Amino acid sequence: MEESIFQPYLGTRTIFKMDREILRPSYIPERLPHRESHIDQLAQILVTALKGERPSNVLIFGKTGSGKTAVVKYIENEFRKADSAHMVQYFYLNCEIVDTPYGVLQSIGNKLIENFHQRIPFTGLSTDRVYNLLREKLDEEKRVVIVALDEIDKIVQKNGDDILYQLLKINDDLSKARVSIIGISNDLKFTEYLDPRVRSRLADEKMVFPPYNADELFDILSERARLAFENGTAEDGVLHLIAALAAQEHGDARRALDLLRVSAELAERQGDEHITEEHVQRAKNKIELDTVIESDPPGDPVERRDREPEAHHGRGLHDLSRALPEDRNRAPDAASRDRPHFRVGHARPRPRPRPIVRSGRPHEGDSGFRAPARREESPREG
Ligand SMILES: Nc1ncnc2c1ncn2[C@@H]1O[C@H](COP(=O)(O)OP(=O)(O)OP(=O)(O)O)[C@@H](O)[C@H]1O
Ligand SMILES: [Mg+2]
Repeated sequence: MEESIFQPYLGTRTIFKMDREILRPSYIPERLPHRESHIDQLAQILVTALKGERPSNVLIFGKTGSGKTAVVKYIENEFRKADSAHMVQYFYLNCEIVDTPYGVLQSIGNKLIENFHQRIPFTGLSTDRVYNLLREKLDEEKRVVIVALDEIDKIVQKNGDDILYQLLKINDDLSKARVSIIGISNDLKFTEYLDPRVRSRLADEKMVFPPYNADELFDILSERARLAFENGTAEDGVLHLIAALAAQEHGDARRALDLLRVSAELAERQGDEHITEEHVQRAKNKIELDTVIESDPPGDPVERRDREPEAHHGRGLHDLSRALPEDRNRAPDAASRDRPHFRVGHARPRPRPRPIVRSGRPHEGDSGFRAPARREESPREG
């Protein structure tokens, strides 16, 4: 092998047993401790689909890192195991990524279309046309389609609630297929901004995932540590410390797992075989520093001052879960002027909520948010 910058490190021993991905958010573990009862409740609601009928729509709320995404992805795996007859199709979409009505309809449609050449294009058709393509495709077979819309508040914030209205109403235009929706949000107040008809149909069933306490986070960490490391690499004392730190961050399991992974990486880089409390403290400082740097990118300070209040406002309609406690009582622009914008969890700036403009009737419990004007009929091909 030729000499390279990697040479000195190639021989260093890895602290991870198999794969460090086990500690990353994308990994879905086989067990989700302390979410058993929520999973069981969802199983009771969704089992209807396996009997060929449409389950109730479900709305799941909970603060960041409370296991919402993990649970809905876990359910997807369970359907795969239970549904050998392929009667149920379960589609997961993240509305922060697929954030337009066109995108949502097109993504669901394309999941049903096997032939690549018949796929719905990314752009170029009217939304009504995509709706009709989806409706026709759905109704080709008797089936139940469950659409899990993660971060559902983001699409409503950006585009109003028309897409939800269409997806809820599509059942009226179908004769064979049936569609159910699982909406997931960390914004407890998001439904206040929905049209009352959308709200009542969407929230057939509501579930709230409470934040994890330190003991629960410890169990989650132990389970993951068992998979990720050899015995003794991450001892209980260290896991208790991480759990206690993450419990202070509103019981965020993502923060707990990040702390464990970064602590392990620091130990590995130092050539240590065990994770110590010192690694954990350094990992905590590193994550906080990284968050500050990510949230405060270099650039023209004047331009930055303009941008920061926007990022702060845009945390979600009512999502204060990502703010530091001391931010909560301060004007957003004051907080961002005084010091770098500090946010735990996700560091991405979020778009400013756009007022929803709805035509016609006044909105129940008017909050100033309005959805765009909507046809009273579902779209027909024109
Ligand atoms: N009960 C659990 N058992 C094991 N791992 C968990 C559990 N709950 C959450 N996690 C893990 O914690 C991390 C964060 O969880 P998840 O992504 O589900 O949070 P969330 O509630 O969707 O947060 P957000 O609102 O920020 O999207 C993921 O890595 C997930 O696998
Ligand atoms: Mg999530």
